Amino acid sequence: MDVQITTQAIRNLSCDALIVAAARKGVGQEVLLAKTATTVDGLLGGLIHERCTDGEFKGNPGEILIIHPMERLAATRIIVVGLGDLQKIDSQTVRRASATAARHLQNTGAHQIVLAIDVHSDRLGAAQEIQAQLEGALLGLYTFRIYQQAENNSNGKGISHIKLLAEEANKVEFEQAIHKARILAGATNLARDLINEPPNVLTPSELANRASTMAKEVGLECEVWNKAKIAELSMGGLLGVSQGSAEPPQFIILRYHGAPDSGKGMALVGKGITFDTGGISIKPAEHMDAMKGDMGGAAAVIGAMQAIAKLQPPINVTALIPTCENMVSGTAYHPGDILRIMNGKTIEIVNTDAEGRLILADALSYAAREGLSPIIDVATLTGGIVIALGSTMVGLFCNDECLTSEIIAAGRLAGEKYWPMPLDDEYNEQIKSDIADIKQTGGRAASSVTAAKILEHFIGDAKWAHLDIAGTSYLDSKKPYQEKGGAGVGVRTLAELVLQLAHNP
Ligand code: BES
Ligand code: ZN
Ligand code: ZN
Repeated sequence: MDVQITTQAIRNLSCDALIVAAARKGVGQEVLLAKTATTVDGLLGGLIHERCTDGEFKGNPGEILIIHPMERLAATRIIVVGLGDLQKIDSQTVRRASATAARHLQNTGAHQIVLAIDVHSDRLGAAQEIQAQLEGALLGLYTFRIYQQAENNSNGKGISHIKLLAEEANKVEFEQAIHKARILAGATNLARDLINEPPNVLTPSELANRASTMAKEVGLECEVWNKAKIAELSMGGLLGVSQGSAEPPQFIILRYHGAPDSGKGMALVGKGITFDTGGISIKPAEHMDAMKGDMGGAAAVIGAMQAIAKLQPPINVTALIPTCENMVSGTAYHPGDILRIMNGKTIEIVNTDAEGRLILADALSYAAREGLSPIIDVATLTGGIVIALGSTMVGLFCNDECLTSEIIAAGRLAGEKYWPMPLDDEYNEQIKSDIADIKQTGGRAASSVTAAKILEHFIGDAKWAHLDIAGTSYLDSKKPYQEKGGAGVGVRTLAELVLQLAHNP
């Protein structure tokens, strides 16, 4: 995608579509045109205003009004997008509006578009607004069509040039906003690609190849440990879960050295189950195909590392990704097995479908042994979080109040929502075992909490947060800037968090 800033006068901007915005003063109240929308309306002799007073366009989120200005402007089409209540406009409103307009235009012969969603509300600076517009368009235009033949595939025929409107005075600030938007949207789309790849292509080894290729492109250090090395380190969780699969497990490490003279830095850990059948405790057939997305945590971490490498914050970050398949076979692990995790603790297996916590336990033990802190893990971990929070919010489990607020704030910048969940010690009762140090699952009650309590046994003294993205990582219907399938949730939040932590450790 070609992206540029333009300072040209609106009347002379030649493009296939000029996208402007309108909000509402309140529920059932009058429509308010944003800055460029007002200018365009003037050039059109009040045509937009008329469509608002006669009730054709109400300025609601998701709504669009299409106007053909004929010869009065150089633009072929004007798209007015609704932003809803003026009081509630934030970067997420702009992301959604821009995505709605871009998606609408994608299959209508438009190649060159200009984004001019400029409300300049109190909550949203001009640079943030530019960033959100571009992110919205780039995220909204994402598709995964590499396995379809060209006639089913509109790629290449759609939007190829995006311009963003600026004035001379804010050009430099806007260039930076555009740089950041491209990086964050690109990293999110990388994570989406990894999630959407079918499980026969994206095996654990292929996930390692993709991570290593990305690392080379952006200058990250990458190491991939094979099964022998995993065994040497006594990673009994990863070995146990992977033993039923013909595909060997891998342990991927990516290192970013942004502050070579300071301490060890932080860790990002991602669950990388490239396919989860449930193992011997097999899942029902319906929707099992969605379990190709059980590496959404790994994808989020790989995407975030790409963004971090490009944004260059002064901090050290290590990414740890245990990856394998959870399969059914004569060599699969059994309910009743006892596995010994890298830090020496034993886990009594009761349900082979609760595999994520086992591979994460090894990765967290390694992070803790290395003295990395804070540790942030991201995982499509439990069905329980899907029931609790649906596809709207990520479950946030954290042993530090300050880190909790930082993650929520980073999420707000990214347009992702995190909801704090408990880690009270009473929940440990549910995971007591008679024959091992801990029991793998705590039953149906509070199952996402007991899963987090298991992980807590492996973090040592580190500050730690666990993001359960099971409900948000893989969507079965589209949202304003998300296609069905991999959402890429977590990427932008992790990148924003690392930027924050780099500047105020
Ligand atoms: N990968 C699943 C969790 C999941 C569910 C992810 C729905 C995405 C959408 C995980 O490995 C799992 O199966 N968890 C079980 C554990 C249970 C058997 C103790 C769960 O939470 O239902
Ligand atoms: Zn499972
Ligand atoms: Zn799983």
